[in-house]
Amino acid sequence: MIHALAPCSDFVGLESVTHLAAGGEAPWLAAHTEALALLARDQSGGMPGRANKDATVERTRERAARLLGVDAADVALLSSTTEGVNVLALALDWRPGDTVVVEAIEFPSLVFPWTKLQEQGVELRIVRPSDGSPWHYTLDDLAAAVDSRTRLIATSHVSYLTGRRHDLARLREIADRAGALLLVDATHGAGVVPVEAGLADVVVSSCYKWLLGTQGIALFYRDPQRLGGLEPPIVGWHSRASAMSLDHPDEWATPDHAGRFEAANVSYLSAYLLDSALAYLGRFPAAQLESHSVRLTGLVLAGFERLGLEVTTPEQPEHRAGNATCVVPAGVDSGALAARLAEEGVLVWGGDGRLRVSCHLYNDEADVERLLEVLPIAIAAA
Ligand SMILES: Cc1ncc(COP(=O)(O)O)c(C=O)c1O
Repeated sequence: MIHALAPCSDFVGLESVTHLAAGGEAPWLAAHTEALALLARDQSGGMPGRANKDATVERTRERAARLLGVDAADVALLSSTTEGVNVLALALDWRPGDTVVVEAIEFPSLVFPWTKLQEQGVELRIVRPSDGSPWHYTLDDLAAAVDSRTRLIATSHVSYLTGRRHDLARLREIADRAGALLLVDATHGAGVVPVEAGLADVVVSSCYKWLLGTQGIALFYRDPQRLGGLEPPIVGWHSRASAMSLDHPDEWATPDHAGRFEAANVSYLSAYLLDSALAYLGRFPAAQLESHSVRLTGLVLAGFERLGLEVTTPEQPEHRAGNATCVVPAGVDSGALAARLAEEGVLVWGGDGRLRVSCHLYNDEADVERLLEVLPIAIAAA
């Protein structure tokens, strides 16, 4: 029997549902109530309160850096993953003929910014599996699309659609062979499996899924050696190295740390919640979080097989994380199926003809059994 790593009582509302939807929205940590009270106190505390708020942002940055295995000076706190991808797209000095390589099933925010760059002569190269299968994405296929014109490889660490986890060391090799930059979206990796951010040039991650925070804040790491000189495309009163003064506006310079990408105040509300979430997650060894989710997703995949569903997540533990996905049977609407399961108290994500089951630290084997018990009934009714 696989037991949960954390009691449901650490979260709000989990007693009455089987929550297998962290890949969409994380449940609310009970500890967030305390974080909100601290923010209320600091918000009413005038400028000393503001100093506390800034200290919370810095502590959050340090916790995020520890999670990614990098220095806090190389982490910016932006508003969303989408913003982070666009910051990179706007900051690089693109040349006509540069290519960006992405997989065909990539999350849209990791594709549209390059689509837009086509106006500047940048080519978007979309990779599809060479074996003709719709799901079997391998790094060999990605490597085959990379050449000397490749300026950037943009990829998710863990796919939101298939649950496949890519090997970041291998991606680094592929990028280095072509002299390309590597952008990794760690939204479905961070908080559930270790993310060696230092292997990438830029790592972005949302915080409202596996990281147990909420919207309004996202992680943006940039490698200090390869991209230390990258200037922010959007600037404001926070993007300055020296004290605030307009006496010499021409001598204005951005700071030498990644905070240069934060043009204005970070969302303090989101930062307080992320601080609370990262403090909570930090109590669990990364390897324990990983093996827990990987074992549970293994059970989900075996259950999908038994039900005759087409599994889209790789079987090998090193190639998956907390998402287990399958194709819904022909004629069944995936959104309607997820809604039907929600009526039975089982929360998952359904869309694009697929079902995604996400297993995090508060889940146990009984949650998987419950899902597999109601799934065939829900399919029949959908
Ligand atoms: C892989 C991935 N990246 C990015 C996002 C969206 O992030 P944001 O809203 O922070 O831009 C999602 C949302 O589902 C996602 O699955």
